[in-house]
Amino acid sequence: ASAAGRCPVSPRASAFDPFGAEYQADPPAAVRWSRDEEPVFFSPSLGYWVVTRYDDVKAVFRDNITFSPSIALEKITPVSAEATATLAKYGYAMNRTLVNEDEPEHMPRRRVLMDPFTPEQLVHHEPMVRRLTREYVDRFIDAGKADLVDEMLWEVPLTVALHFLGVPEEDMATLRKYSIAHTVNTWGRPSPEEQVAVAENVGKFWQYAGTVLDKLRKDPSGHGWIPYSIRAQREHPDVITDSYLHSIMMAGIVAAHETTANAAANAIKLLLENREVWEEICADPSLIPNAVEECLRHSGSVAAWRRLVTRDTVIGGVPVPRGAKLLIVNSSANRDERHFDNADEVDVRRDNATDHLTFGYGSHQCMGKNLARMELQVFLEELTRRLPHLDLVPDQEFTYVPNTSFRGPEHLWVQWDPAANPERADP
Ligand code: HEM
Repeated sequence: ASAAGRCPVSPRASAFDPFGAEYQADPPAAVRWSRDEEPVFFSPSLGYWVVTRYDDVKAVFRDNITFSPSIALEKITPVSAEATATLAKYGYAMNRTLVNEDEPEHMPRRRVLMDPFTPEQLVHHEPMVRRLTREYVDRFIDAGKADLVDEMLWEVPLTVALHFLGVPEEDMATLRKYSIAHTVNTWGRPSPEEQVAVAENVGKFWQYAGTVLDKLRKDPSGHGWIPYSIRAQREHPDVITDSYLHSIMMAGIVAAHETTANAAANAIKLLLENREVWEEICADPSLIPNAVEECLRHSGSVAAWRRLVTRDTVIGGVPVPRGAKLLIVNSSANRDERHFDNADEVDVRRDNATDHLTFGYGSHQCMGKNLARMELQVFLEELTRRLPHLDLVPDQEFTYVPNTSFRGPEHLWVQWDPAANPERADP
């Protein structure tokens, strides 16, 4: 430590840039040096402490009192006055939404809102996921080439998300644009000019959520999480407020859809890049559930999450002061050799694959994890059965929406010989 007792910033720590090419290309590889040498460090350019080892990331997730989730959805890049004015024009007032809520408010809400996420409720969604997946594959199965993101992996999870939420199906392209704006607004580093355009879309997204909510309020008897929450409000008006409903309406779309679309694209890309593993699951589909976990571990769709330190504490032996903001790089934890043998390898038979932290951990752990898992399993089952000869289009460049947290390729081009399809259409 320096004479003043402050933590010295190493050259690598001061060079750390989560918006730079290295992190954007491969977050866990970009912080490998940190896992090995300096697992908890302060990043002056970000203004955050960065945590990269498995045990430390898990310990932070586990203690949501010392490590408050309140900053989870804060804009990581301070916004311009103009962008703020744009958001205000739309009455944007995104507030607490489970994921960024402290105790004692959080747990009572989580309990009141949990029922639609239970395995008993989720089984009702599987036939729809399977039917949709088959329909989308039918559309391109004879084409020999497809961008799986544009032609399937974005819209199917979005449709499932809307169905799960109980929201009427809307213009998919518009919702995709809104969701990406939300990601950039929350975890990105938009330039001042981009900020205004992003704010316009976030503002419209907010208004759209309000309109849908008003419509559902008139008749909240239907299926889905939002009608369920509107009904729950009648019994627990103090727990579920109006502003709360509006916030979960918008956040719910993002939580349920973009995460899953990205996870699916990451998984298929990873498996095709490791062709022998793809062939292994084609030959034995009973490996698929664990393959899903292994893909979520190796190439999850949430690369990093955030917490606020509420009291002076120590993380991995490093003193961290009250008020410090943490970037907890769960994608790095998932590649920590101290917890996973040969962590960079894809092993669909790995016995501790489910230990990954892609869904977080502890009292805020992802409520939608089993819905996401089911979707990913159905995608892999359908694709390995109907297109086992699928291959990546060679030499394609993968691009990512620049941000710290939500991660998946914007396009995923695959090809195959339609004449060799095991079946021409759905049996
Ligand atoms: C929370 C990831 C899919 C709903 C979270 C958190 C993460 C996450 C990292 C924060 C966990 C923490 O703070 O400990 C993912 C990933 C998904 C996915 C990687 C897909 C592969 C979904 C889906 C839904 C959903 C499909 C809804 C249908 C939620 C909710 C929370 C949450 C409501 C807040 C829980 C709380 O704070 O109590 N998710 N998620 N997620 N997720 Fe997901």
